[in-house]
Amino acid sequence: MKTRTLAATAALTVSIAGCAAIATDATDTHADYRAQAIALMKSSFHDKDQATMDRLDQDGVQRLCDQQPDNAASAQERAALEKAELATVKFPADGKFFGNFAEGEKIAQTGVGLQWSDKAGSVAGGNCYACHQLTKAEVSYGNLGPSLYNYGKLRGDSDAIVRYTWTRLYNAKAYDACSNMPRFGHKGILTEQQLKDVMALLLDPKSPVNQ
Ligand code: HEC
Repeated sequence: MKTRTLAATAALTVSIAGCAAIATDATDTHADYRAQAIALMKSSFHDKDQATMDRLDQDGVQRLCDQQPDNAASAQERAALEKAELATVKFPADGKFFGNFAEGEKIAQTGVGLQWSDKAGSVAGGNCYACHQLTKAEVSYGNLGPSLYNYGKLRGDSDAIVRYTWTRLYNAKAYDACSNMPRFGHKGILTEQQLKDVMALLLDPKSPVNQ
């Protein structure tokens, strides 16, 4: 037992030392690898109908998160970028946050609309189920994001929760620059009406999410 522990400790020390060596190396060459990776992507993708090459262009948050923001300077930069993302959020012009939850469920179920194979200008979906559980009835869902089952039942519908949820849907990077959730409002993926329908799906007490 003791020998095994010692062996394991030795192996760990070696692997930590190994990591340190790699990390030093990686810092030096990281920018090169990044440039090479971007060049490779640009050479292997091409425009196809509505999916144009500008989709590979990164904005500030994407660039930051792609560059492993683990130092103090980037923590500051990150906070500034989150503030700028928060400033993009537009609340509903008529002050009404809720649409129809049945429509919201349809939006959550589909991810088509913006692929090269979709007709330009078609209505896009939110593909929420790709990353979240939402209802008990749907058994096929991804788990990159947390379960949203009973979201409204657990959170209630205070003004703070309503505004938080809208902001999260509109631009998730307002709360976390490196969020993996698409920026549905900011990037024009969902319309204001669709966002309202998804809000109803999450927060309406009658929605299947809250049963
Ligand atoms: C590509 C994956 C992905 C998709 C698609 C996605 N989300 Fe998310 N979502 C996440 C992740 C990851 C989080 C966890 C927090 C973070 O990283 O921003 C999250 C967080 C949330 C939260 C906050 C949960 C909380 O406890 O506060 C809500 C609400 C939410 N998502 C709703 C939706 C809805 C509605 C849709 C569809 C319109 C959707 N998401 C689509 C990945 C996704």
